[in-house]
Amino acid sequence: MAQPTIKAEQLSEKQSEYMQLIAEIMEIRKRGEKPMAFVRTYGCQQNVADSEKIKGMLGAAGFDFTESPDDADFILFNTCAVREHAEDRVFGNVGALKNLKRRHPQILIALCGCMMEQEHVANRIYNSFPFVGLVFGTHSLHHFPELLYRSLVDGKRVFERGNDDKKIYEGFPVRRDGSFKGWLPIMYGCNNFCTYCIVPYVRGRERSREKDVILSEARQMIESGFKDITLLGQNVNSYGKTLETPVSFAQLIREIDAIDGDYWLRFMTSHPKDCSQELIDAIADSRHISKHLHLPFQSGSDRILKAMNRHYDRKKYLDTIAYAKERIDGVSLTSDIIVGFPGETYEDFKQTLSLIREVEFTSLFTFIFSPRKGTPAAAYDDPVSAGEKGKWFQELLDVQEEIAAKRCAAMVGQTERVLIEGVKEKTGELNARTSGNIIVELEGDAGLVGTFQNAEITKARNWILKGKLI
Ligand code: SAH
Ligand code: SF4
Ligand code: F3S
Repeated sequence: MAQPTIKAEQLSEKQSEYMQLIAEIMEIRKRGEKPMAFVRTYGCQQNVADSEKIKGMLGAAGFDFTESPDDADFILFNTCAVREHAEDRVFGNVGALKNLKRRHPQILIALCGCMMEQEHVANRIYNSFPFVGLVFGTHSLHHFPELLYRSLVDGKRVFERGNDDKKIYEGFPVRRDGSFKGWLPIMYGCNNFCTYCIVPYVRGRERSREKDVILSEARQMIESGFKDITLLGQNVNSYGKTLETPVSFAQLIREIDAIDGDYWLRFMTSHPKDCSQELIDAIADSRHISKHLHLPFQSGSDRILKAMNRHYDRKKYLDTIAYAKERIDGVSLTSDIIVGFPGETYEDFKQTLSLIREVEFTSLFTFIFSPRKGTPAAAYDDPVSAGEKGKWFQELLDVQEEIAAKRCAAMVGQTERVLIEGVKEKTGELNARTSGNIIVELEGDAGLVGTFQNAEITKARNWILKGKLI
């Protein structure tokens, strides 16, 4: 089905003026002292990338950043709605800010992100958390400066849940959290409507950024020393379909890969329904793309996949994996799995177990089904008890632990190129990561953080490797 073309708009001049005005107001209020912001991000990398834009705008409005809410003039939680547990954590942590607001009445407390795009959540915040002064959803990022200005000046609570989910905005100032590992959104939203998932409701329809904008941002990141760049989208395989001149994802990564430099390129998430051979070939033939494929299969049972509206079956998934293993030497595979989808039986669950045994994933992100208000699956009959689902879940973890341990043990003696990511506080060892996204701990100088090194794998402890620098 042809999708409507979506053209990007630029962040308006007006928003820059608001950033300037905020800087002036805060300068007076703080008598020349720097205003401080505390930003906490929940959820996935899409949210992390959104927070980097928000921090960019706050920076342009004169703010510095603090890790301590007590020192902040502005507190923002960027929230996630994907599972109930994620939402509960946010509610709990927002509740805890009540006392802070009492101690420092000047503080402006704000909430944004996926949770806020749900009407029932915004209403609950409005009614039960009167100390929250500003609420905005994922579609309101492009006028955050205006919303912040209004909250500061009017002294009234500002609640905004946008609905222009078919638009795309460029020209945000971005303040990246890292200096060598970074996120690069290539598209927003999702059209897939998996029956369990809230994301399409809170992030809107799928829309892609222009290829040239992405290429220039990638070039900029590589030139400024980024070594590990992850392209982001809920379903990167359908990148480019809403562009005036459609481009495939494989084409996009080929063009990024052609940029010279010493860096790794990753992407997430790939949807198995349209993970093409062209894409796998592009990974295999590339200079920079990590030999890593995150391909969430969710369930090994065809019956459940159908009920989830995933549009592929076990065979199609396994065929894709077989092709990836054939084309990409030593490919590292990871996945997401849901246990206890409504109507899932132990027989269905065993299909999931047999699939992970067959594929031998490096690691898994595993979740127990969480009903999300407004999604079809929330209304499905769900006769299996939480206790029973918990047992299945544990069984899954045990099987995967065995597989990961075996996979890691097989790597002992090999030499791996690793990116040194940081220093472990407890032991002073360096934390590194392989191209396949496996953690390696090794002795070395802290000055190596942010560089590529070669390491010999000396030991495997469950799914963590020990190594030594060569
Ligand atoms: N777009 C990505 C996933 C985004 S959400 C994809 O299609 O793969 C990340 C993961 O959270 C999903 O892969 C799924 O495993 C899990 N998830 C999403 N909704 C869930 C729910 N209602 N209950 C439990 N897990 C869920
Ligand atoms: Fe959710 Fe499915 Fe879209 Fe992933 S593809 S974000 S699981 S609806
Ligand atoms: Fe959560 Fe929104 Fe990401 S719901 S998983 S932060 S897209």
